[in-house]
Amino acid sequence: MKKYTTIYDLDNIPETIQEAIQLKENPFSTQLLGRNKTLVMLFFNASLRTRLSTEKAAKNLGMDVMILNVNDAWNLEFEEGSVMNLNSSEHIKEAAQVISQYGDIIAIRAFPTLEDKEKDTSEWILNSFVKYATVPIVNMESATMHPLQALADAITITELQTKQKSKVVLSWAPHPKALPQAVANSFVGMMQELDVDFSIAHPKGYELNPELTLDIPIHYNQEEALKDADFVYVKNWSSYESYGKVLHEDTNWMLTKEKLKEAKFMHCLPVRRNVVVEDAVLDSENSVVIQQSYNRVYSAQIVLKKILENL
Ligand code: CP
Repeated sequence: MKKYTTIYDLDNIPETIQEAIQLKENPFSTQLLGRNKTLVMLFFNASLRTRLSTEKAAKNLGMDVMILNVNDAWNLEFEEGSVMNLNSSEHIKEAAQVISQYGDIIAIRAFPTLEDKEKDTSEWILNSFVKYATVPIVNMESATMHPLQALADAITITELQTKQKSKVVLSWAPHPKALPQAVANSFVGMMQELDVDFSIAHPKGYELNPELTLDIPIHYNQEEALKDADFVYVKNWSSYESYGKVLHEDTNWMLTKEKLKEAKFMHCLPVRRNVVVEDAVLDSENSVVIQQSYNRVYSAQIVLKKILENL
């Protein structure tokens, strides 16, 4: 594999999920593969799980890891032909090539502006690195996608499913801040690749990018959508149409134990208790969020392994 910027960089998703599950049983089986190889992780935004799980994955493969919080470095310029007489000190053209000399793989976290839809949709930061770096790029959550999370979520569903075709519902939940659509977008794409009965529930106005949800049933009534669900994935996202806006904080959409019933509860974390989901759900045996976060190690490890095998 040459890069992992979207889930579609994987040749065969079901096979990759099985490979990740095998890797989880024997995480150090390929510890020589990454010897004398370095992963450089660049963070334009905060992280807990992605940072630690990806570092652990790289170390399981025998790699060295270097981490840069980009806000501690020079302000980067991304515009072609810009006159750099303001706040930017270094152009992405030099920075990406320089970093490529220090690392064999570059992983990047860069959230959207949630103000400029066109700019965010163009994935200007991620794609600038793809364009100017000379080594493979891994997406650790970009403006519109979180493919490592989606792979971990698919691993979790595969491990836990007890029937041939599970019913999986992605439900919007309230949140006081405007959040990206990236987790939801990648989860939607991933569910279309699995043999599941998938639907989305959200209030009117919170439609995701319609190009991504073409044939997927959309419900505006959460309780109706959750009926007989096996997995309920809860996530907030800001409006795509009224780009980046919090239209309302309809507290009725918070997930409760009563609404969840016997289903498994999923969330990428971090999660705001008693805003997005009530304590009774998170503290119950139905919650699989800790398993999901553990599977972040193996989603990253299988991705790095496939890239290392191709170096
Ligand atoms: N789920 C996830 O990506 O967590 P972090 O933002 O803490 O990395």
